[in-house]
Amino acid sequence: MSPRRWPPLLRALLAQGLGFLGLVTLARLGLRFPPLVWVLLQAVLAVYLSRALALHPRWLLLQAALPFLVRALWGVPVPPWVYLALFLLLALVFGGGFFTRVPLYLASRDAWSQLESLLPEGPVRFVDLGCGLGGPVAHLAKARPDGRFLGVEASPLSWLVAWLRCLPLRNAQIRLGSLWRVDLSGIDVAYAFLSPVPMPALWAKAVREMKPGSRLISHSFEIPGQPPARVIPVEGRAGARLLVWEM
Ligand SMILES: C[S@@+](CC[C@H](N)C(=O)[O-])C[C@H]1O[C@@H](n2cnc3c(N)ncnc32)[C@H](O)[C@@H]1O
Repeated sequence: MSPRRWPPLLRALLAQGLGFLGLVTLARLGLRFPPLVWVLLQAVLAVYLSRALALHPRWLLLQAALPFLVRALWGVPVPPWVYLALFLLLALVFGGGFFTRVPLYLASRDAWSQLESLLPEGPVRFVDLGCGLGGPVAHLAKARPDGRFLGVEASPLSWLVAWLRCLPLRNAQIRLGSLWRVDLSGIDVAYAFLSPVPMPALWAKAVREMKPGSRLISHSFEIPGQPPARVIPVEGRAGARLLVWEM
């Protein structure tokens, strides 16, 4: 796979690594600069390479700041467990998104209400594929005591928050695991707020498994070549909307 399609964190590390190799090459060629100039060079190279690797512009400031941060912390006695704790925290919150390229961001309350209006009458079975902190599942389970609401989440800390949130709700269940392992055959409404990357695979899974008359809803992200039956704007980030496909 081309590095331009790697997860953003890996591309960011690659840009810093290649930038550092560039500096090592310059040093071996005999160039000598004051320490701050080396740091500046590393920042410039990292930003340039990040752009070449198609990293989103919001990464660039971070990439530029990182060499200065490392320089500032150089020699500061930070206990090793601090690094370990930070790494574990990041892995627990963003672990699911690291490999799947789907970060954690949350649908608005307005989106929850619009989802509610998209549930059919009767004892509906609903799944949130990548349920984050469980907001939509908890809201819908309270609004529709006759339905059964499932959330699936790959990041352990997000799963824990969602699980605790839904613990008092007898018609809601939060599962730790991959959305790709959820069987959609008994589901009436499947909802996902992911990223552009998994949408073609999600469509293939929905076509394979979902029964006729069921509904697939994507928050904000289109499925290439599959025009939705309805598009409902919702509050939240610019362009936030629910796209609805009738299966
Ligand atoms: C954008 S958030 C959406 C949260 C919630 N569904 C909402 O609408 O507010 C996407 C979530 O999907 C999770 N996720 C990404 N890929 C996943 C996968 N393959 N299996 C399970 N969860 C996944 C991420 O960890 C993240 O919490």
